[in-house]
Amino acid sequence: MVWPLPQRPKRAPAPEQDAPAAAAVAAPKLDLAVRLRRNRKADWTRRLVRENTLTADDLIWPVFLCEGENAREPVASMPGVERLSIDLAVRAAVEAVELGIPALALFPFTGPSLRNEQASEALNPKNLVCRACRAINREVPNLGLVTDVALDPYTSHGHDGILRGEKILNDATVFVLVEQALNQARAGADIIAPSDMMDGRVGAIRAGLDAANFEEVQILSYAAKYASAFYGPFRDAVGTNATLTGDKRSYQMDPANSNEALREVAQDIKEGADIVMVKPGLPYLDIIFKVKERFGVPTFAYQVSGEYAMIMAAAARGFIDGDKAMLESLISLKRAGADAILTYFAARAAKKLKEMA
Ligand code: PBG
Repeated sequence: MVWPLPQRPKRAPAPEQDAPAAAAVAAPKLDLAVRLRRNRKADWTRRLVRENTLTADDLIWPVFLCEGENAREPVASMPGVERLSIDLAVRAAVEAVELGIPALALFPFTGPSLRNEQASEALNPKNLVCRACRAINREVPNLGLVTDVALDPYTSHGHDGILRGEKILNDATVFVLVEQALNQARAGADIIAPSDMMDGRVGAIRAGLDAANFEEVQILSYAAKYASAFYGPFRDAVGTNATLTGDKRSYQMDPANSNEALREVAQDIKEGADIVMVKPGLPYLDIIFKVKERFGVPTFAYQVSGEYAMIMAAAARGFIDGDKAMLESLISLKRAGADAILTYFAARAAKKLKEMA
């Protein structure tokens, strides 16, 4: 029922003769009971009616690792992003804690000589990611560490799995992924994040972790990960643009599909995923929304490298305001239903939010 509105007085008819015509034009008045702009008239009321918020608590900071000491290597396609040696990654971890960012996600640049067909470096307890986990946990124990489970930084062909001929072998890959996950858990990873899109890997990793008494280690599944052009700059950062043969469409999802994303998510939840992720972010807001609506489980979004690069490139040319576009894209992901966001803007956004508070 509509609430009975008080009868509003009818406007007096405009005097016919002497009123200047201009006055009638200057103050026309619509008979509107509902004026949505009233709630937006000032900052204080806009703050009161705001439906979604973005805080540092919502952010996970992806960090690229490289060998060396005090070494930073700029990633050309990601202005402002550098690969960091472990000592500098530890400093980034300290900064994350100071900024209130709950977790880092670690991605290695593996030396070309360490890449092979079997991705054996992924299982090396002293690989870059494992050493970084140990170093960060030693210095910054209260920061969450997310590690990527997938073979692409370690394979000579740049694919996320074991390749035979032109085929990525699903089950053979899953066996290696379980070992990779265990290797990371032993090094102190808090969240195992399989980004490979093989079938059955979440269940297999959960079973493997539990059998090794890692039942507290979480699984963040890249559940709906699309075969996207927006990963280009990331592949520069981890060196897989140089190695990748062909494309990943036989395992990553077709951008034309959304029902399939729901099946992927349902499957991963059934297999024991603690958190599911949609990736990329902004081009897939509809998928984030549907996943959150349908399943109501913790749902993360990955604002990927190409999304970051687009905002940075346009801002560098003065086409858009970089800070505003950054914050708008992040709140949009929240509005769509994301509980947290992996973003290369994490530190910058957290700083900006602090400044604005
Ligand atoms: C690889 C992986 C990719 C990303 C995260 N893990 C790239 C790919 O699948 O080729 C992309 C992240 C980004 O673009 O920021 N398993």
